[in-house]
Amino acid sequence: MTPTKIAAPGRFITFEGIDGAGKSTHLAATVARLRARGLEVVETREPGGTALAERLRGLLLHEAMSLQTELLLMFAARQDHLDHLIRPALARGAWVVCDRFTDSTYAYQGAGRQMGAEVVARLEALVHPDLQPDQTFYFDLPPALAAARRAQARAADRFEAEDLAFFERVRGGYLQRAQADPRRFVIIDAAAPIEVVATAVATGLLP
Ligand code: TYD
Repeated sequence: MTPTKIAAPGRFITFEGIDGAGKSTHLAATVARLRARGLEVVETREPGGTALAERLRGLLLHEAMSLQTELLLMFAARQDHLDHLIRPALARGAWVVCDRFTDSTYAYQGAGRQMGAEVVARLEALVHPDLQPDQTFYFDLPPALAAARRAQARAADRFEAEDLAFFERVRGGYLQRAQADPRRFVIIDAAAPIEVVATAVATGLLP
């Protein structure tokens, strides 16, 4: 009897880092590389990724709100994104490549906004107790360098308008997450020349 062929399970890859670290370029290259392997790839982002979550993104980036509201809206957007895009894609064997996920919440709301990791962990346990990225590329960059890069780009949103001390805390939050889970995280030196960064991402990518 021929064994039933089981579709390869999907993989969940996330890209993280402070604003201005340059992750978006390398995310796009990663998606192209995976598609060249013949895989189905879903490219998405947080907050966002579904119609509802994209509307919440608009509010999160531009409307004034309390810290707790911000935190809850991040997870509300994530719940919708998981229900309607991420989980179905992984279930059918697709690879999901996501610009930011819950590590961003630990870094920005937990560390940057100083809400602490515990409250983030409680919401994570509610929204996705069973799911973690298979691999996370963390683009590490000194906040002063990131700010200089951002200054050449577009107008700042509510997060990008924060000061260096905020981004130092965000960076600290990320490094703590990365050091606690070295199997999942690939730390990329985002200060390196773009080709060096590109090679580091390509080499680190899951087979
Ligand atoms: P991003 O898509 O990287 O912004 P841009 O399109 O301007 O490059 O991320 C949007 C912002 O949302 C970013 O400043 C980080 C913030 N953010 C949080 O604070 N917490 C979160 O959980 C997520 C997913 C994003």
